[in-house]
Amino acid sequence: MKWDPQLYLKFSDHRDRPYFDLTGRVFADSPRKVVDLGCGPGNLTKTLAERWPEAQVFGLDSSPEMVAKARHSFSDIENLSFDVVDANAWLPDSDVDGVVSNAMLQWIPGHADLMAKWLDHLTEGAWFAVQIPGNFGAQSHVIMHDLAESPRWRPLVSGVLRHKDVVHQPDEYLHLLRNHGMTADVWETTYSHILPANKERHPVLEWTRGTTLRPLMAAFQKLEESGQLPEGMGYETYESEYEHHLKDAYPLDPKTGEAVFFFRRIFVVGQKN
Ligand SMILES: C[S@@+](CC[C@H](N)C(=O)[O-])C[C@H]1O[C@@H](n2cnc3c(N)ncnc32)[C@H](O)[C@@H]1O
Repeated sequence: MKWDPQLYLKFSDHRDRPYFDLTGRVFADSPRKVVDLGCGPGNLTKTLAERWPEAQVFGLDSSPEMVAKARHSFSDIENLSFDVVDANAWLPDSDVDGVVSNAMLQWIPGHADLMAKWLDHLTEGAWFAVQIPGNFGAQSHVIMHDLAESPRWRPLVSGVLRHKDVVHQPDEYLHLLRNHGMTADVWETTYSHILPANKERHPVLEWTRGTTLRPLMAAFQKLEESGQLPEGMGYETYESEYEHHLKDAYPLDPKTGEAVFFFRRIFVVGQKN
């Protein structure tokens, strides 16, 4: 699956805020090594390098496009570097005393087991801070999912989208932390994003094109490349049907063309005892 850093950064004002709400609850004074897992285009990882100039900060991401963008943007910051790494294969070494991950774990089914492994490897005093979108019940997701699983589209893209049980409830993350020798500071916030008017497409579609729709785009492209796409059943058709439903679910402000987009996120912060 390919990411488009430019499109992802389009809503950076809205997408950045949870990162600061998350890292605002990390009270490390002088960490040596801090890792940002699923760092994306690196604009937020950079703020960790600025906050802790004595620390070595590493942004890791499985997307070569994201890492290339991060390296290109921030190669001049000495204590900051980026690498292509799959979080599934990563473990903290004993020097790591800060782990941050913002909006990545929802992409990893079974991530509670992975988190447990990371927590077991953290050394005393190390901080752990992750934010996981918990909005699989939002209309933007439900419509996308139901459409993909409808009789019309199911033969092409059934099972491509992640299921809502990929993300756990806040209390489950809280117990996970406490059961692995961590303090636990767990909460959830529903942000109300006012998305700006967009001349080309519905603002919520513009948002989801940067993230949730990416696996569908990749699946349609694969079908097209292998000649398995029936006439008139390409990604563009799926997207315009999706947009049609979004217009009802997220009516535009008649004066400004803005859309109100509610987004629930779960925050999990702890320090190793
Ligand atoms: C929604 S973006 C979040 C980017 C950044 N953390 C931010 O807050 O702006 C999710 C990122 O997670 C990365 N990602 C998804 N699965 C991953 C994995 N298994 N290992 C590492 N990175 C992963 C994606 O490539 C993408 O850059």
